[in-house]
Amino acid sequence: MPLIVVVGGWFGDEGKGKVVSYLGLVDKPSICVRTGSINAGHTVNYNGRTWKLRILPSCFVNETTRLMIAPGALLKVDVLFREIEETGSRGRVWVDANTGVIEDRHVESERSNEYLMKVIGSTGQGVGAAMVDRVLRVLKTAKEFPELRELITDVSKEVNEELDRGGEVIIEGTQGTFLSLYHGTYPFVTSRDTTAAGVISEVGVSPRLVSDVILVFKAYVTRVGAGELPGELSMEEVIARGWAERGTVTGRPRRAAPFNMDLARRAVMLNRPTQIAITKFDALFPDAHGKKRWDDLPVEARRWLENISEALRVPITLIGTGEDSMDMIDMRREVMGP
Ligand code: IMP
Ligand code: MG
Repeated sequence: MPLIVVVGGWFGDEGKGKVVSYLGLVDKPSICVRTGSINAGHTVNYNGRTWKLRILPSCFVNETTRLMIAPGALLKVDVLFREIEETGSRGRVWVDANTGVIEDRHVESERSNEYLMKVIGSTGQGVGAAMVDRVLRVLKTAKEFPELRELITDVSKEVNEELDRGGEVIIEGTQGTFLSLYHGTYPFVTSRDTTAAGVISEVGVSPRLVSDVILVFKAYVTRVGAGELPGELSMEEVIARGWAERGTVTGRPRRAAPFNMDLARRAVMLNRPTQIAITKFDALFPDAHGKKRWDDLPVEARRWLENISEALRVPITLIGTGEDSMDMIDMRREVMGP
């Protein structure tokens, strides 16, 4: 009964979409559940096409996987239907009856909130405002929307039954450990707990059923919005290193810093991963670009990975070497790490 939970180790944008889409293609899980909400943009590049998903699970690339939205997640009806069309996944998308629904007034309320927009640097997608309504118990949920009627299911029941049958389920976390409402750099955080524990709570599955937690670290650290970023580089330096990126949802330039071992250790403590995925490895070691086997990596690239794996005492199992979902070195079948 493999239940795999994928979460971010930095401040979001670690490449969870790429990792989850890869796992979808090779593991072909029965179910992939998306947590979080539409403030999170997960990018999938596969076979020459690019999708920027804000609510659908990144496993959509595997056509046999059922795609579910967690009861603890928040969707926006127009975003959901747009993504179902863009990904051609009509007929295999399911929404929990209790999934929260963001309405235009939530977006308007955030966009006119100066503290949120200017001090925190919110993405202004209405997620926090909808969470406020949820806690006040006035937020509408998916079961109240006739247009969602055909998509409604009991996600925690489906997931638990699938695990009991011996099927594979992937839970896709959003944002990153240090944007967690409880464990991040408060108040410069998002409106939910983004750690492994928070993510499974959104789905309704016991910690006892989790077989693997995969913690995703990009090869360098990025952050959009306000809040501390240890070792932050100047924008000129970020560009010179080839690390310039823009936010998927907002288009804002991402601040960047080198891989940070102190943050990584804390992310490991908070999530206790069984595996680590490193993404954008080819941004650090251009010779690694497009490589699919450990033996094809340059020696210094291998040493960098070994040092990190030893320092964190967690095996590095997945190494992203390019944009495409399949540009991945998969160590789950080879042996590495302490
Ligand atoms: P909010 O959750 O949209 O209110 O944004 C709060 C903070 O979290 C801001 O710094 C955002 O830039 C950041 N944030 C929210 N979602 C994401 C994400 O998916 N990736 C990266 N940063 C995010
Ligand atoms: Mg993102």
